[in-house]
Amino acid sequence: MNRKDGRAKVTGTATYAAEHQIPGLVHGYLVTAAIAHGQITRIDSQEAVTAPGVIAVFTHENAPPVLKPTNNFMTSKIYEARLPLSDDQIYYAGQIVGLVVADTFERARHAAHLVKVEYASQTPIVEANKATFNEAPSMFGESMKFEKGNFTSGDSSTGIARADRKITATYTTATELHASMEPHAIIAHWQDGNNLTIYEPSQWVIGSQRTYAELFGLPAEQVRIITPFIGGAFGSKAFPWSHGILCAAAARQLQVPLKLVLSRQQMTANTGHRSQTEQTISLGASADGSLIAIEHTAKSCTSPVDIFTEPCTGITSTMYAAPNLRTSQDLAVMNVGVPTFMRAPGENPGLWALESAMDELAWELKIDPVELRLKNETQEHQRQGLPFSAKDFAECLRVGAAQFGWENRPKQVRSLTRDGKLIGWGMAASTFPGLRSVATVTVNLLADGTAHILTSANDMGTGAYTIVAGTAGETLGLPVEKIRVELGDSLLPNGGMAGGSQMTATLVPAVMAACEEVLQTAQVTSAPEAFTKLSESGESVFTATASAAPGEEGKKWSFQSWGAHFCEVSVDEEIARLRVTRWVSVMNIGRVMNAKTAASQIRGGVIMGIGQALMEECHFDPNIGYPVVYDLATYHYPSHADIPRIEVTFVGEPDYKFNPVGVRGAGEIGITGVSSAIANAVYHATGKRIRDLPITPDKLL
Ligand code: MOS
Repeated sequence: MNRKDGRAKVTGTATYAAEHQIPGLVHGYLVTAAIAHGQITRIDSQEAVTAPGVIAVFTHENAPPVLKPTNNFMTSKIYEARLPLSDDQIYYAGQIVGLVVADTFERARHAAHLVKVEYASQTPIVEANKATFNEAPSMFGESMKFEKGNFTSGDSSTGIARADRKITATYTTATELHASMEPHAIIAHWQDGNNLTIYEPSQWVIGSQRTYAELFGLPAEQVRIITPFIGGAFGSKAFPWSHGILCAAAARQLQVPLKLVLSRQQMTANTGHRSQTEQTISLGASADGSLIAIEHTAKSCTSPVDIFTEPCTGITSTMYAAPNLRTSQDLAVMNVGVPTFMRAPGENPGLWALESAMDELAWELKIDPVELRLKNETQEHQRQGLPFSAKDFAECLRVGAAQFGWENRPKQVRSLTRDGKLIGWGMAASTFPGLRSVATVTVNLLADGTAHILTSANDMGTGAYTIVAGTAGETLGLPVEKIRVELGDSLLPNGGMAGGSQMTATLVPAVMAACEEVLQTAQVTSAPEAFTKLSESGESVFTATASAAPGEEGKKWSFQSWGAHFCEVSVDEEIARLRVTRWVSVMNIGRVMNAKTAASQIRGGVIMGIGQALMEECHFDPNIGYPVVYDLATYHYPSHADIPRIEVTFVGEPDYKFNPVGVRGAGEIGITGVSSAIANAVYHATGKRIRDLPITPDKLL
């Protein structure tokens, strides 16, 4: 089935946040800090206030009021714990220090540059080697199960000391930006004084509704979040950011609909990034390749204004069995904006290190890397102490190896060439947990012969509209053209969050339940029979609402998805040009709801992983603390020409232990393991082991 929202997107009729037309709308533009650490000594808005078209200028001296929210992950999370304009302190370059409101965007932007700010500047810390690392504290309050990643079983140092073969290596990743196509933007519209409507890209409209309600001391019913479409989010659009809070607060004070669109440069500083990481892994194995011990320590960086740990070591006890295991996670504070969730937070950099180390161990042992993984896979989540509900990792490895032709792989480095270039083959594993939450869905069967599915869930480009329509069509016995899906509005029944790759597993069981219930209500077995009944009775609608939620199954099983990537690279040694020339991904995600959108998710993940492996990096100027990349020209990521054909295959069976539909998620797993598969292929091609991402030409010369 094709994308339900495809036509709207390619014809430009899909409406994104900043495109909503509100009569009487005025425009905001942020004023941002020119230093990375220090204090504002004087701020002068006079010239800005009197500039043409300017309606108001807000700074910390006249900040519009907001209340401190609970800031707990499940109740009312904001990305940056420090509220905007709350004092004169500067913690990172580009921090918001003011907001100018004017009748046009251009006048607001012009006046923003007329605000004069004087600072007492201190030396910022923006380099990890100058930062102080300590054991990472927990994040987001007690109820948040985002595990810290400290785990010990057995005695890993003794295990490694006794191993026949061992490797120890340190791997790094760069600071990465989300760089989504749709910029961060918000329209805040207050009506009748105290009713707030917000148009903003949100991966979780119900969560956002609760948070904005707390920020303004309102009951949730007085806040409505509207997000029919999102142009890329990857974890950076799940909760309100400071600019959104400030926009809504200013709009309340002025009682005028206010639009605020961030520039790419502002997005770099103010809307999250994936922290750089440094990870050290030690593996010890017996001569036959059985792992005896794994040690994995990880460092990441956060901001002075909030705590976010990139939880790299969470995957370590999930992947391979070892009687002696130790993982730990350290964190340092630097003068940067708040790092945040970015597609497979933790799993992605974690597998970069672990799957590179497994490759190094395979060479050390002279064992095929596929065989080493098959030999050491675990049937149990070693930290949770639970068996996996389903595990077709071995099948992923075998199918991938067969499709790629892995058995023909020359066993030496620098042994394949083509057209004067070195060729290398590499592989790595993928994994991501299966998560699921609560969702409620309403189904209306209407007299005009259509079905209408309503839920607040979000489609951030992943395919939610499509799979909701597909599932409803299947359950109701109705062609998908007769099904209208409405998503992304907090007025609709709670459809859960598009995050943690859980939207499909959360939503689809509720869609099925609501469709079954509406058929029962109508006492029919398919929607066409219900339509006949409606026309005979003259009634206008059969309606039903149903919910689906996880039960006790999580006490018995650990839910995890699996995969394997195989790739080929070519390296032109004279100019150090590295290209990815072939890709095979085999994934085990339970039931596949829609072959096209699921494969697209995996491809999108692989493309993002190729970007991480080859080009994506954001550096901060060590003297002034500003990011030296700040837009789509300076932040390099792949274009079509960088990407080969990506073959995607799904294996395994529906996971009915997880939910009645048997589906796990596909949004994030695709990116995991990609960078290590590439680095492993680069080693095979060149004999050079690259342990620092991205693999830019300087590292290959
Ligand atoms: Mo994702 S990083 O859970 O949006």
